[in-house]
Amino acid sequence: MKNTLKVIVTGACGFIGSHLTNYLRNKGYYVIAIDKKPASKCFLKLKADEIWQLDLRDQISWELFKRRKIDRIYHLAANMGGIGYITRVGAPIMRDNTQMNINALEFARKNKVDRIFFSSSACVYPVYKQTTPNVKPLKEEDAYPADPNESYGWEKLYMEKMMEAYAKDYGLNVRIARFHNIYGPYGDFESERAKAPAAICRKVALAKDGDSITIWGDGKQTRSFLYIDDCLRGIEMLMNSDYDKPVNIGSDRLVTIDELARIIIKISGKKLKIKHDLSKPQGVRGRNADLTLVKKVIGWTPQISLEEGLRRTYQWISSQLS
Ligand SMILES: NC(=O)c1ccc[n+]([C@@H]2O[C@H](COP(=O)([O-])OP(=O)(O)OC[C@H]3O[C@@H](n4cnc5c(N)ncnc54)[C@H](O)[C@@H]3O)[C@@H](O)[C@H]2O)c1
Repeated sequence: MKNTLKVIVTGACGFIGSHLTNYLRNKGYYVIAIDKKPASKCFLKLKADEIWQLDLRDQISWELFKRRKIDRIYHLAANMGGIGYITRVGAPIMRDNTQMNINALEFARKNKVDRIFFSSSACVYPVYKQTTPNVKPLKEEDAYPADPNESYGWEKLYMEKMMEAYAKDYGLNVRIARFHNIYGPYGDFESERAKAPAAICRKVALAKDGDSITIWGDGKQTRSFLYIDDCLRGIEMLMNSDYDKPVNIGSDRLVTIDELARIIIKISGKKLKIKHDLSKPQGVRGRNADLTLVKKVIGWTPQISLEEGLRRTYQWISSQLS
């Protein structure tokens, strides 16, 4: 059956937004893709029905759609990046994202959009629960008492609360996913905005047998990583569900950053050594996702192994570099 829903994807030129745009388009949705970047700069060629280059911090950008019936908004646009970027940058992240978030919510409210999705983050979880590599998986309720990591985490937590208030006061239908380290092909792997899996794939792809690659921190810090295809499925299952509270979309397989690097080195077939740069930021000491709630409320679990996801990611990044 043809899907007749008309949806807006914001941040459609970004890593997750570009995959989501094509995923929804392939399912038959009418997709309006919006990003401040020109489509020619997206890593993935967008298959959207409409592509708009707009700065969503300006309310006027949203005005362009006010006479149109929009069923859903997938709000992924954000000023964000890897650990280096979010440790260094505070005010622009909080300002830009808060402006975009308010505009998205106001548009949804005034235009009676049926539901709005927000990409929150594992960065909302308190630093005091993430002090050892062997960390307990984080449950959604662990977000309070709040002490998020960096300005980025506070901005996400504030938006979650704002969505809760819009739901309560205006009856807005909200969906909130807390993403935990999403990775895959067609994302930034070269700039300061690249995340650990992509940055390590790039270092490994550029290295020659016998070289060393440098890992930020002592390499014993831990994280869990989710492949993009699992993330897209999670977004859609959440969007189609009735669950309107924040929920983790991540993996519960905890690895050290050194282990992550060793998996990528093995995929490359190269013989490389690992060095550590203790002067670089490493974020919290350990972070893992508890998936009990997401399994219960939408029946979602990850399906793609870290090895398989990294193989696909490494292949794409090394092909871009060669
Ligand atoms: N990738 C992850 O692991 C991860 C983890 C947690 C949360 N998230 C959240 O998921 C969402 C998507 O993440 P991503 O990894 O695809 O990020 P990304 O940086 O690849 O994409 C974000 C996109 O938003 C666009 N954008 C930024 N400012 C804009 C503006 N003013 N107007 C219009 N577009 C603007 C950027 O140009 C970019 O294309 C973000 O909200 C991010 O905070 C991602």
